[in-house]
Amino acid sequence: MHKVVTNFSKTVIVPECGIKLKNEPEPVVRKKYEKEIDRVLITKGCIEARIVALAKEIDAAFKNVNELVCFVILKGGMFFAADLIRTLDELSDIRTKIDFIRCSSYGDRSTSSGKVDLYTIDKFEGENVLLIEDIVDTGKTLSTLQGLLAKNVKNFKTCVLLDKGIARDVKVDFIGFRIPKIFVGGYGLDYAGYYRGLPEIVVIKKEILKK
Ligand code: XMP
Ligand code: MG
Repeated sequence: MHKVVTNFSKTVIVPECGIKLKNEPEPVVRKKYEKEIDRVLITKGCIEARIVALAKEIDAAFKNVNELVCFVILKGGMFFAADLIRTLDELSDIRTKIDFIRCSSYGDRSTSSGKVDLYTIDKFEGENVLLIEDIVDTGKTLSTLQGLLAKNVKNFKTCVLLDKGIARDVKVDFIGFRIPKIFVGGYGLDYAGYYRGLPEIVVIKKEILKK
């Protein structure tokens, strides 16, 4: 049974059993993925509700800011950033610009290789920058990018949808959900390229993950 969540104003702590909205039916894994996906962890409704609250937090934190460069880490951050930036543009007076970087530390594995590969990078001197990422685990990806991007910018903040909540040395300003330390997919997140298109966050079965 999923836990019913009604308040999305702060980072939501997600239990092992997963969460859903009061009016959402008990979520089920789509038939085509039954062999690979164990369960739905965070429903589409919960993601939508938390993104509205995050957009309000970001709007308040960038008070008196006219323009914000939203810097999206691909590929995992694609759907989260798309929904967050559109919500921000709807709710806030801030004008947004969008840029992307492609970055990878996992390859086809389910544990971090410890090496973060960067593909392209632009500089944002004098700008207000929001770095948008799907998930933080060891913090290596974020600290690498913060080190490169945060130089000479006016105001720099980081937003992640999911946080696996282990001790680490990286500053994250906005966190959507704190999740247990399990490998997840869906809503932009993949394992070996699959599951990105799912509208919810799901738990991948342990037996299909290569170490
Ligand atoms: P670090 O360790 O650098 O890891 O904080 C963050 C990056 O690793 C990927 N990651 C995941 N991807 N399911 C995924 O699909 C996961 O559970 C997961 N944990 C970490 C992610 O790409 C992120 O950029
Ligand atoms: Mg990523």
